[in-house]
Amino acid sequence: MAMLASPEGRVVDEQALDRSTFVLGTELPAISVIGLGYVGAVSMACLSHLGFRMVGVDVSFEKVRAISEGRSPIVEARLGELLAAGVAGRLISATQNLVAAVIDTDVTFMSVGTPTAKDGGCDYTYVRQASRAIGQALALKTSRHVIVMRCSVPPGTTLDVVVPEIEAASGKKLGRDFGVCFNPEFLREGVAVADFFAPPKTVVGTSDPQTAAAVASIYKAVDENVIFTSIEAAEMVKYADNVWHATKVAFGNEVGRLCKSLGIDSHDVMDIFVKDKKLNLSPYYLKPGFAFGGSCLPKEVRAVSHIAKLQGVNLPLVDSLMVTNDAHIAEAVRLLEPHHGKRIGFLGVTFKPDTDDLRESPTIELMARLLAMGTTISAFDPNLDFGPLLRGQIDYVKHASPTQAELMDKLESLIVTDAEELLANCDVVVVSHATAAFRAAVAHRPAGVHVLDLARLSRDLPDDETYEGIAW
Ligand SMILES: NC(=O)c1ccc[n+]([C@@H]2O[C@H](COP(=O)([O-])OP(=O)(O)OC[C@H]3O[C@@H](n4cnc5c(N)ncnc54)[C@H](O)[C@@H]3O)[C@@H](O)[C@H]2O)c1
Repeated sequence: MAMLASPEGRVVDEQALDRSTFVLGTELPAISVIGLGYVGAVSMACLSHLGFRMVGVDVSFEKVRAISEGRSPIVEARLGELLAAGVAGRLISATQNLVAAVIDTDVTFMSVGTPTAKDGGCDYTYVRQASRAIGQALALKTSRHVIVMRCSVPPGTTLDVVVPEIEAASGKKLGRDFGVCFNPEFLREGVAVADFFAPPKTVVGTSDPQTAAAVASIYKAVDENVIFTSIEAAEMVKYADNVWHATKVAFGNEVGRLCKSLGIDSHDVMDIFVKDKKLNLSPYYLKPGFAFGGSCLPKEVRAVSHIAKLQGVNLPLVDSLMVTNDAHIAEAVRLLEPHHGKRIGFLGVTFKPDTDDLRESPTIELMARLLAMGTTISAFDPNLDFGPLLRGQIDYVKHASPTQAELMDKLESLIVTDAEELLANCDVVVVSHATAAFRAAVAHRPAGVHVLDLARLSRDLPDDETYEGIAW
């Protein structure tokens, strides 16, 4: 079998696939693929190239015939060539008989369409039909089967739609009789074959280690670093990816429209933009936390919106940023509503840790809203020193709004000397800085003190009903 080179030059040695590791048996598993569209046809071709025996299923006679004859049903580079080789090597067959295909194989990949429903949600028609048919096949099987869900679906679909349909039609039980995982598809149409052999990532969501190992072993030759997660997180990551891609396209195009109106070459701008791998194309700013603030982001977002209006350029994405930021602050207020009338303490006041900059701090805005509602508040921030320099900033912040002006007048009197004093004198603590000192203080807080965590103090959330996060 040939070696395949990815566009990035990565060479994949298919011989490296260890045939003995597949947990369902000593041989490579046979795989059925339900739905021979853009996703399913590529799976058929590429997995057959890795040596798997593939059985394709579609309701479309034309697609079944094309695959059976080794022809690509879609325009996709290298697909026809790999399908033809698979058919010639007797590793590819196709049928309209879903039940027979499932019975004849060990693993089933489901890649039927999930179009938009009339209400804007997901149309489950094809997923339900295919799941029921898989169940009918499992009713006739004695050996354990693995179902690999590849359709893009709302989180919860695999466990709440696919599994119940299979169980009802088969009379069998998830875990005991069959395994299920969600394995999102990240390949780009046009270069899907190349992406298959050098994937951006391989994600397997499952609650069952046996299924996880089985699916990981299928991908071993192309990706040894499979990311395992829950089924719901795997479902969600696919949506997050595509919404992010859409956001990037919309952002680039908004920058482009504004640049054009200003006579600036947008590609000059974005070529420089993408060179920044530290802040621009990086995990920075992408982890959920509290609202953005500080002396730059809100000011510059407003400035760009303003320039666009003067230029007569419509930038809905940029215009929405302050709206979504405000919604995040409003969410913190909402989460504190059940604690109305209680004393609320704030750990962290400045717009981020390790600075004394109060300008446009979202915590200041949150404190101001609560104060205006008559809430008893106090705060501690190790970087606030009420000297002449801070007074200048306080005067500046006063101009933001009447509620922030009221807070600024009282701020010094609300500040306590340390985190322990704050925690000893509040019923709810709101943490906006993920520092080691605040993490320790919160962990050792007096019994009964509730926490609203705006900063994700720790990766692993405490199993504690007095602890709530803003976006996790
Ligand atoms: N196209 C992409 O690049 C891409 C990428 C990632 C994920 N996805 C997701 O993968 C899924 C499939 O996408 P696609 O673009 O390949 O769709 P597609 O419409 O090209 O193919 C779906 C196929 O499923 C067949 N089908 C429907 N019901 C069936 C049934 N009961 N039994 C057998 N076959 C059946 C259809 O006839 C069709 O050929 C969707 O959920 C999609 O969101 C697509």
